[in-house]
Amino acid sequence: MRPFDGRRILLGVTGGIASYKSAWLARLLTQAGAQVDVILTRSAREFIGSVTFEALTGRPVHSVLIGDGHALDHIRLAREADLMVVAPATADFLARAAHGHADELLSATLLAVTCPVLMVPAMNDKMWTNAQVQSNCAALRAQGRVVLDPGVGPLASPDEGAGQGRMQEPETIVAHCGRLLEPPGKLRGKRVLVTAGPTREPLDPVRYLSNHSTGKMGVALAEAAWRRGAEVVVVHGPLAVRVPDGACAKPVETAQDMAEAVASEIGDVDVLVMAAAPADFRPAKVASAKIKKSGKVPQVELEETPDILKSTASKRKQGMIAVGFALETDDLRENAQKKLTAKQLQLIVANSAREAGAGFGYDTNRVSILSAAGTTEELPLLPKREVADAILDRIEALL
Ligand SMILES: Cc1cc2nc3c(=O)[nH]c(=O)nc-3n(C[C@H](O)[C@H](O)[C@H](O)COP(=O)(O)O)c2cc1C
Repeated sequence: MRPFDGRRILLGVTGGIASYKSAWLARLLTQAGAQVDVILTRSAREFIGSVTFEALTGRPVHSVLIGDGHALDHIRLAREADLMVVAPATADFLARAAHGHADELLSATLLAVTCPVLMVPAMNDKMWTNAQVQSNCAALRAQGRVVLDPGVGPLASPDEGAGQGRMQEPETIVAHCGRLLEPPGKLRGKRVLVTAGPTREPLDPVRYLSNHSTGKMGVALAEAAWRRGAEVVVVHGPLAVRVPDGACAKPVETAQDMAEAVASEIGDVDVLVMAAAPADFRPAKVASAKIKKSGKVPQVELEETPDILKSTASKRKQGMIAVGFALETDDLRENAQKKLTAKQLQLIVANSAREAGAGFGYDTNRVSILSAAGTTEELPLLPKREVADAILDRIEALL
């Protein structure tokens, strides 16, 4: 099952340089299972032709309001869409959309849709900061349209340098589409704090103790929670994967840093998911200079790091759902059960560090979910994305 199977997306492309990236966007949306209908403005057809989109989507491309298209195409396309995306959205299109123009197919269709609308502006940085453009975007947002801020980076023309105006990358746009297509659930509008990845405990200025955590499970949870409409903060150690779009990232190094970051974020959090693998021990002393070979092997004394999950117990607001993870080599179920009780959790997700295809580094995981109510569920080996959704389903049921 692909994430957008059975969904119909209307992709409007307007006449900006970034329209070359819209072909990739059409490809990603189609690959995700969506049926994609493309509308090109007249200018967009000058920048990028319809044949590319027809080939990528397997569907006819629409362009004309009156003429060679079917009469009332704009009404039919609008009625059938689950989501409308305009990427890139030119300054001129934003102006037409903000003021309700309907003199060409794309803006006429926009007026007729009842589904969510995502606009992805792209333009020169001076155009983007222009007061009229900003006021048009504000008007569109007030009308309920989702308007993404453009990215900051090199602009199209070689002599323009960097600035804010780049179209958001197609992968980011797809993530926003996922959020807008998600049916409303109990996580919408909730604040979710996820921890992810390992910590690094310094031994000297060049060495540290750490573990094999990559952060994939925590990132999958953050991604899925954001897609379900939550406001997500991710407190994370050094990750092997990208922090998902939409989540607010708080990078940390040590378990102490992670404890402090969690303590400062936890105030109004509705759901706490501790998927990180912070170190349990750290070197008791950190050498101020690199420890050199001297003919005798140095002894490293360790001390315990703060127990982050336990330290949150007194700071949790009433009704907060707290979820922990237990990665064990032995006595998985018993250890998970002990942690569930000791740390006052509603759920604990247990997985074995000894099982092939599960745990650190893999894209898959096989977990058991134990609840404070006394239930235990065994899930099969699944992609971490699906494990994340299964965990969030259980969380939503508790909210
Ligand atoms: C080479 C070139 C690049 C352009 N790039 C952009 C752009 O990135 N963003 C933008 O808002 N307008 C851009 N424009 C201006 C639009 O093409 C112009 O406003 C056009 O009328 C937009 O039509 P449409 O919104 O119907 O597609 C560009 C124009 C040219 C000639």
